[in-house]
Amino acid sequence: MLKGKRILLIVTGGIAAFKAQELIRLLRKHEASVRCVLTDAGAKFVTPLSLQALTEDKVYSDMFSLTDESEMGHIQLSRDADLLVVAPATANILARMAGGLADDLATTVLLATDKPVLAAPAMNVRMWTHAATQANVETLRKRGIQFIGPNDGAMACNEYGPGRMSEPEEIVTAIEALLTTEKPPLERPPLERPLAGKRALVTSGPTREAIDPVRYISNHSSGKQGHAIAAALAQLGADVTLVSGPVGVADPAGVTVVKIESAEQMLAACLAAGKVDVAVCAAAVADWKMAKPASAKIKKKAGSAPPALELAPNPDILATLSKPGPKRPALVVGFAAETENLVANAIEKRTRKGCDWIVANDVSPASGTFGGERNTVHLITAQGVQDWPTLSKERVAMQLAGAIALHLTRKRPAEAAE
Ligand SMILES: Cc1cc2nc3c(=O)[nH]c(=O)nc-3n(C[C@H](O)[C@H](O)[C@H](O)COP(=O)(O)O)c2cc1C
Repeated sequence: MLKGKRILLIVTGGIAAFKAQELIRLLRKHEASVRCVLTDAGAKFVTPLSLQALTEDKVYSDMFSLTDESEMGHIQLSRDADLLVVAPATANILARMAGGLADDLATTVLLATDKPVLAAPAMNVRMWTHAATQANVETLRKRGIQFIGPNDGAMACNEYGPGRMSEPEEIVTAIEALLTTEKPPLERPPLERPLAGKRALVTSGPTREAIDPVRYISNHSSGKQGHAIAAALAQLGADVTLVSGPVGVADPAGVTVVKIESAEQMLAACLAAGKVDVAVCAAAVADWKMAKPASAKIKKKAGSAPPALELAPNPDILATLSKPGPKRPALVVGFAAETENLVANAIEKRTRKGCDWIVANDVSPASGTFGGERNTVHLITAQGVQDWPTLSKERVAMQLAGAIALHLTRKRPAEAAE
């Protein structure tokens, strides 16, 4: 999918710079071309010679080199690429990018570019969590810089926490998501089945809470995103049970579909599905139901006030599935549909519900998410927030299924290094 794409890789001065070499190897394996800019500090960790050998291209470091500037000026360097990737991204370069500095070739290129930029931060956990770094990241995010990672883990400095650079494979997946144009499924190469032998539970669509036998409380969820996730997990080989509220979309192929109406029925169907490796709660479950649904149609009486509807809370399916215990799935993924303070509310929801990941999506009417074909989501994990570009719901589903597969099958290396 990356064939012919041109990546400008900016390597800065962190221990994780050694991983940039594997990143180049993977990108070239995907037939992308890679050109490197190396900071002075970066050159203390990897040699220009090794990057040159891997990229089979000149490595650029010096803004004031007469030969470099005449052959490939810094503006051309910043434009002659489809994507700029900063990996590793030090605390220092993030601060300089946020401040709009242009005091070396890397920052000048980053300031001059009109292309998307992806940064893979890597630093000591305290540097990452420092208010200054977090404020810089927030500033850069608002300006459209995309971030991948950092991951949680043991650090070279003998501390544990967020700060490890994302693995090169994860960075390649993020690059693909940023660069690839949507392709119909038939044009995609045959998929591997990394989830073979794993069981998945997905909830999708709205629930309906009866007011009386003919009326109900519900919402605009179409089920498109949840159904696409069930289909994507099945494509990756998982044995999938989809518990679906009333939707107009077709049942995905190769998936066991259980149709329900109310939140209580959805919870019962989820529990009946038995032990699963991953649960993805994409359904828009009604928060409230009628305290006492009427057994007969509520009649409109001339001159009398409309009936007061007394509501009661529905069971919390995500929190129930997230409860610690032997039956808890190894990975529980919730969805947060918000109309304001999207990321902050979703981060809070992840903690409150006890789930592992939250996919946050903007469902304000202007976003066109409910019922629409595309979705702009943020993946919130213990490691931080990944902002995904606007993608088709199928592509969001496949990317999420890929991340789930990676999580469920990856064996973390034991070594304590970025
Ligand atoms: C051994 C060593 C390891 C370092 N590792 C990191 C790191 O992982 N992340 C980071 O942000 N800074 C790290 N630093 C500090 C940066 O190298 C320093 O801030 C430098 O100015 C970064 O410059 P650059 O952003 O232009 O590459 C490290 C420094 C040393 C001496």
